[in-house]
Amino acid sequence: MVMKRPLIVGMGGTTRPGSSSEQSLAIALHKAQQSGAETMLFRGADLILPLYEPQSKVLAPDAKALIDALRRADGVIFSSPCYHGGVSGPLKNAIDYTEEMSADERVYLDGRAVGAICCGFGVQGPMAGLNALRAITHALRGWPVPLGVAINSAAVKFRDCGCDDEKTVQQIEAMADQVLNFAVMSIQERAKARARSSLKCNTSLV
Ligand SMILES: Cc1cc2nc3c(=O)[nH]c(=O)nc-3n(C[C@H](O)[C@H](O)[C@H](O)COP(=O)(O)O)c2cc1C
Repeated sequence: MVMKRPLIVGMGGTTRPGSSSEQSLAIALHKAQQSGAETMLFRGADLILPLYEPQSKVLAPDAKALIDALRRADGVIFSSPCYHGGVSGPLKNAIDYTEEMSADERVYLDGRAVGAICCGFGVQGPMAGLNALRAITHALRGWPVPLGVAINSAAVKFRDCGCDDEKTVQQIEAMADQVLNFAVMSIQERAKARARSSLKCNTSLV
């Protein structure tokens, strides 16, 4: 059986030059790519979308590009700064666009592995943001991977998509591996399920 290359979509970061949430996300996607995934990055500037309006019939082109990517995704990685004890407004607004996937056959993030990173200026904020991202993942029927990455950006510095703390990099990469491994399992299970159902169809024709 030839397996499709898993697609991991990253969403996160801020428009702040040197954004730690964006650079940590880039490290995660780079690791996923090295391990064989196709990746797509929606960075801080890509998340500045019109406020989501559920009744609106037309999507802005940038929002449509995001939803098209999420529909194809096998795994997703969110990376947010902690803003006032939660997720940043632009990221949450971008996530709200997944409401467009509420009537899809694979509803919202159903069956997709979801990794989460949160950066904050201290230790309390990133944990709060991480919990919020996991609650959002549950609401969207995604599967949060066991390892979440909480980064104290007052202590850990990012530069040129690198990081001065090896342990932080190891955590980001381990989380990316978990997302990719789950994505591969999910692709394989869905392929098996399709094979079983086509076998049933064929035998009922005999
Ligand atoms: C509006 C705003 C609210 C913030 N609120 C918190 C907070 O509640 N807790 C915290 O630890 N850091 C807070 N911070 C600090 C950011 O989370 C931190 O600097 C983070 O690294 C920014 O992400 P970035 O580097 O990707 O831009 C806040 C920053 C801003 C601009």
